[in-house]
Amino acid sequence: MFSPKAFVSEAVQKIRKDVTGRAIIAVSGGIDSTVAAKIVSEALGSQVLAIYVDTGLMRLGEEKDVRETLSNLGVNHKVLQEEDLFLDRLKGIIDPEVKRKMIGKTFIDVFEREARNFGAEYLVQGTIAPDWIESGGGLRDTIKSHHNVGGLPDIVNLKIIEPLRDLYKDEVRKIAEYYGIPKMRQPFPGPGLAVRIIGEVTRDRVDLLKRATFILEKGVSEMKEVPWQYFAVLLADRTTGVHGDRRVYGSTVALRCVNSTDGMTANFTPVPLDILAKISRDITNGIPDISRVVYDITDKPPATIEWE
Ligand code: XMP
Repeated sequence: MFSPKAFVSEAVQKIRKDVTGRAIIAVSGGIDSTVAAKIVSEALGSQVLAIYVDTGLMRLGEEKDVRETLSNLGVNHKVLQEEDLFLDRLKGIIDPEVKRKMIGKTFIDVFEREARNFGAEYLVQGTIAPDWIESGGGLRDTIKSHHNVGGLPDIVNLKIIEPLRDLYKDEVRKIAEYYGIPKMRQPFPGPGLAVRIIGEVTRDRVDLLKRATFILEKGVSEMKEVPWQYFAVLLADRTTGVHGDRRVYGSTVALRCVNSTDGMTANFTPVPLDILAKISRDITNGIPDISRVVYDITDKPPATIEWE
């Protein structure tokens, strides 16, 4: 039986023993990096700086939530506005793996810069077991390179610490409860909305997806039991729609809601049709550029949870 208290106390001791200088932590606002930040902060106090990079690829209101959570946890932190840099680096990239690797590399560039400023020698990451197992770290084939594993370039000259490396998602949730973190948001991928935009990531397309995501989240929150993960995906192809008596070629959004315990396998959630229909209408009424909404009814396997 997993004991969060025992895990934390062992992890804190290990970090104090292993880490001899200053460290920075990449926080994304997700449960993994938040819990990692809290553990490392408990071990090292002000010798640690948690960095939240606003990549422009996060959901609406995310930055504010992250600031609040870190303040409440007493974690030393800083927010960096890097939207222009990320969008510039992603220009023209369509291939999902290249996208992930570019985002990983840009993260690292930003962290290396901040690490130098802070005088850090260590980079702490919230990697959990499914991240590295699915990135080919075990005996499996590479499924996709998660940004905090496969996307890491060799040039990193910071020593990497991964306190949650052997844990699965449900165990990380238990630690979050142990710390009294009242309600964690659903899991969110490190590369953010970029892996939910099929094709090129542009400012306009990110904006479209942010708005659709916001509407989906609001609609899903009316369910008696909220799915484990729920999000919108912006597809690359345009499809035909009608606006009044005019034919238009608008964007298509797919909705994905899944139930899972650890992200390794998942079942699509049978969201009641009336809720789906309302979300669809709210999206197409509220965002004129979107003229079609579809629902993904695939389990994992064979599909992954994210579309890229
Ligand atoms: P997949 O799409 O691999 O997702 O079935 C499993 C779980 O992992 C999340 N995910 C990621 N998390 N960096 C992360 O930190 C990533 O690159 C990444 N890709 C997927 C996904 O949202 C789901 O919860």
